[in-house]
Amino acid sequence: MRRILLSTLFLAFAAQPLAAQEVAVAPDVSTAGLPALGTQWLSANPYRNQPAAAEARAIGRDAYNQACARCHGVDASTNAAPAPDLRNLDRGCRRIVDPALKARCQADNDAYFARTVRQGKVILGVTHMPPWQGVLSQELAWAIQVFVESRAAAR
Ligand code: HEC
Repeated sequence: MRRILLSTLFLAFAAQPLAAQEVAVAPDVSTAGLPALGTQWLSANPYRNQPAAAEARAIGRDAYNQACARCHGVDASTNAAPAPDLRNLDRGCRRIVDPALKARCQADNDAYFARTVRQGKVILGVTHMPPWQGVLSQELAWAIQVFVESRAAAR
């Protein structure tokens, strides 16, 4: 009995690192069309509402579909994917009319987005989302956010 228990435990733990879908794989997307941002992460999205926004949206869409879609849903257009619907992230901010309050809300949202993407979601030792730090450039991370927000606005 003890032996069965032990081998079951062993299997349960040994199986975890084998879950290949939890590995962050860099998308194959060029960021040449975007203003370079360097390695020091910014705290706010530098492309939103800027001249580079349209380019960021297109590049972000490509990167999103390569890197995020398998968990968060193709084109950020479904709430039936296994991972949360990212279009909901800025829902609260979009409803705010007061410009100063809206900017504060977006600043919070940007900080949360960047932190979550960089650190992933590792809860009690289980990787729900792998960390993207060192895998995804910040250019691509912010571009993905611009794309996701455009999908949210179109809803
Ligand atoms: C292996 C599956 C997987 C991949 C790939 C993945 N995620 Fe996630 N992500 C998750 C899961 C699962 C959660 C929810 C974790 C939790 O809160 O328990 C999550 C949560 C998030 C959150 C927080 C959502 C919220 O409502 O708080 C953000 C932001 C996010 N992911 C962004 C991304 C981005 C951007 C990419 C692509 C670069 C990505 N994820 C790729 C599985 C994944």
